[in-house]
Amino acid sequence: MIGPDRMGIIMREDANAARRQFLAWLAATPLAAGALQAMAQTPSTVITSAEQALNVFELEAVARQTIPPSHWGYLTGGVQDDRSLVTNRTAYDRWGLRPRRLVDVSKVDTSVKLFGETWSSPIALSPVSSQRAFHADGERASALAAGKRNALQILSTLTTVPVEDVIKAHGHPVWQQLYTTNIPRLGEQVVARAEAAGASAIVFTIDLLGGGQRRETQAIFARTDSRTCATCHTPRAGYDFSRKRMFDGLDMTGAVSPNSNTLTWDYVSRLRDLVKTRLLVKGVMTPEDATLAIKRGVDGIIVSNHGGRAEDSLVGTLDVLPEIAQAVKGRVPILIDGGIRRGSDAFKALALGASMVCIGRPYCWGLGAFGEDGVTAALRLLDEELIATMRQCGVTSIKAIKKDRLTKLA
Ligand SMILES: Cc1cc2nc3c(=O)[nH]c(=O)nc-3n(C[C@H](O)[C@H](O)[C@H](O)COP(=O)(O)O)c2cc1C
Repeated sequence: MIGPDRMGIIMREDANAARRQFLAWLAATPLAAGALQAMAQTPSTVITSAEQALNVFELEAVARQTIPPSHWGYLTGGVQDDRSLVTNRTAYDRWGLRPRRLVDVSKVDTSVKLFGETWSSPIALSPVSSQRAFHADGERASALAAGKRNALQILSTLTTVPVEDVIKAHGHPVWQQLYTTNIPRLGEQVVARAEAAGASAIVFTIDLLGGGQRRETQAIFARTDSRTCATCHTPRAGYDFSRKRMFDGLDMTGAVSPNSNTLTWDYVSRLRDLVKTRLLVKGVMTPEDATLAIKRGVDGIIVSNHGGRAEDSLVGTLDVLPEIAQAVKGRVPILIDGGIRRGSDAFKALALGASMVCIGRPYCWGLGAFGEDGVTAALRLLDEELIATMRQCGVTSIKAIKKDRLTKLA
């Protein structure tokens, strides 16, 4: 019987062997050899404060050390072979920038207006559940950071801090993400509570209604964690999410799953009737579904594959954005998330038809690494990179970011 510690070592050894093999192969190719040499000359350092971070990956490196292994597996993993997770990222490498020279870019405005609200940046926080698994301050820290930067936050149904406290910390209305559960009455009670608290949009997540594929990376990391879960929380038996704060006081009898696989587009119409504020659907990956969503009266759509956690489709969200934008024809705003790690990624998504972009893991890396300061750093770094990209491409407003500033790479 191999214990969790030994299993961890075996995994690391396997990973190291694979890495060595890959590096040897790379070194044999003339182009990559140059890149490897450059990498070898860059000393490897780990930062000690959020302010030192040069990019979100430096926050990731710290978070990898501070977040316990099973929680890290939850944050970092996708489904099956994590190929959609990877493709979300590599989709951005298939587009290059077309810089423009001699434009006055002394004043750059990154503000966006959406549904009558003005945000200082087009970069928003995607809903990520259970944020106290990454830092004791959880969603409250994310809200404080986003609020001070006037950035939009979308709060998960499975938040560990209730919506009322999050809105108070943020200082502006947040959007409430919705998992209906398998008992729609509960989801509808969540909607009513969020609206009463002042949430200015309901975001119905539709990409896990099929149940999702297996989260293997998460399960493998959990095997390497020798801590006793019960020390901090009731270990999850199946889907016991009754302790999540949005379900406080609700009768959870019979609720075993955050989603229901019986729902159809008719349920979007039902929600449309029920939701008094704006309604968006999150998880659209095809023009067909974008069109159906608009027919059901949604106010906006979010192109998303749940950060590669729904299905291993091998299709990145940026890959499908142009065809979805073409089908939507400007009738409703499109948001996108998945794989955005650089301000230039945000720029590319905005150029290909998104009104705003959202990030999931990068701000949670900041949260896990340094709490509120880390979330602030993630948002600040991405904003700075976006501004630098805008200047290099000769655009001074978000609306002016168009496809003519991109070039499709082979
Ligand atoms: C740990 C984790 C938890 C998530 N929880 C939710 C959730 O509760 N509701 C939801 O709609 N999406 C959830 N997502 C998906 C994110 O909203 C978003 O689509 C994804 O993280 C974007 O990809 P990125 O992490 O590459 O930026 C979660 C993602 C992660 C990584």
